[in-house]
Amino acid sequence: MQTQKEQPIALTGVKPTGRPHVGNYFGAMKPFVDLQSEYQTCVFIADLHALTTLHDKEKVREYALGVAMDYVAIGVDPEKTVMYRQSDIPEIAELSWIFSTLTTMPYLMRAHAFKDAEAKNKEVNVGTFCYPILMAADILIQDPDIVPVGKDQNQHVEIARDTAAKFNHTFGTEMFKTPKTMTIESVATVPGIDGQKMSKSYGNTIPLFADDETLHKAIMSIVTDSKSPEESKNPEEDNIFALHKLFSADAIEDIARRYREGGMGYKESKDMLYENVRAYIAPLREKREAIAADPGAVKKILDEGGVVARERAVKKLKEVHVAIGLDY
Ligand code: ADP
Ligand code: TRP
Repeated sequence: MQTQKEQPIALTGVKPTGRPHVGNYFGAMKPFVDLQSEYQTCVFIADLHALTTLHDKEKVREYALGVAMDYVAIGVDPEKTVMYRQSDIPEIAELSWIFSTLTTMPYLMRAHAFKDAEAKNKEVNVGTFCYPILMAADILIQDPDIVPVGKDQNQHVEIARDTAAKFNHTFGTEMFKTPKTMTIESVATVPGIDGQKMSKSYGNTIPLFADDETLHKAIMSIVTDSKSPEESKNPEEDNIFALHKLFSADAIEDIARRYREGGMGYKESKDMLYENVRAYIAPLREKREAIAADPGAVKKILDEGGVVARERAVKKLKEVHVAIGLDY
């Protein structure tokens, strides 16, 4: 493990709740991998967070290990990145408890995730309510400088920053850094095949490791208006074009011009998009399949990352014990 001390730390967590889609890839996974050259990168499988909604041991195992395989397939390099299981670091849960004694109920009641869950379910579990505190703990225990996340997670990182400030103020220390959020604005929201934000919950996704048939079906289902091939089209109003921006970057000016001039139909545009997405995804899918054939190798990466991350967490929690008086 090469840890270059002079580089700032970038840390993120991934909740294992299903298979990744192209939105997850451009909004969270790829930006993270791209940080490996400039940062000391850490990524963990947020399995404790997943338990707030997932109560099926087979699925927990499958999704959690699956996420680790996904990240290795898209380019996480265990020589550069510390990758670990949240549940391998029990100090996170203890720090979360300590933070819960500093955080007020009205403050947490303002969190979007809680408000959404409450609007949908009659009974929100305590874990969901305390979700941001667990996240503050898993972030702050590793002292990161930046936390790369999608837009929807900004509020959670903000809560982590508030929690750091509150702890430091309450105990008169500089224990926790207040990490910055890093959002990749250009691809902040990848649209799905219906033009809404791509999301598992909307059933409008293009799966990241899709086979050709699934991919073709998804792309041919992209919703368009009913303009004929000859008609002039505004590229900025078309869902296919929005995806060309990600997969057909080299030809984007040309496609935009042909949309405006008329003469490019949606079928042609979809065929072209399919070819480009396939060319992008096929090597990732092959790598993912090779990794899945040897689960022991990925488990070893997680075990080794866990040792590094835990060492840091144990040290931090010891300092916290001293700051709050649990060192008697
Ligand atoms: P989903 O909405 O499919 O359930 P998650 O909430 O699990 O996705 O998101 C996991 C990560 O991927 C988060 O960092 C989130 O911001 C990012 N992400 C999800 N959907 C998109 C999207 N359509 N565009 C950009 N980023 C996304
Ligand atoms: N809540 C995040 C999500 O749903 C996952 C997560 C947990 C996380 N802990 C984190 C993200 C710490 C960044 C940093 O996507």
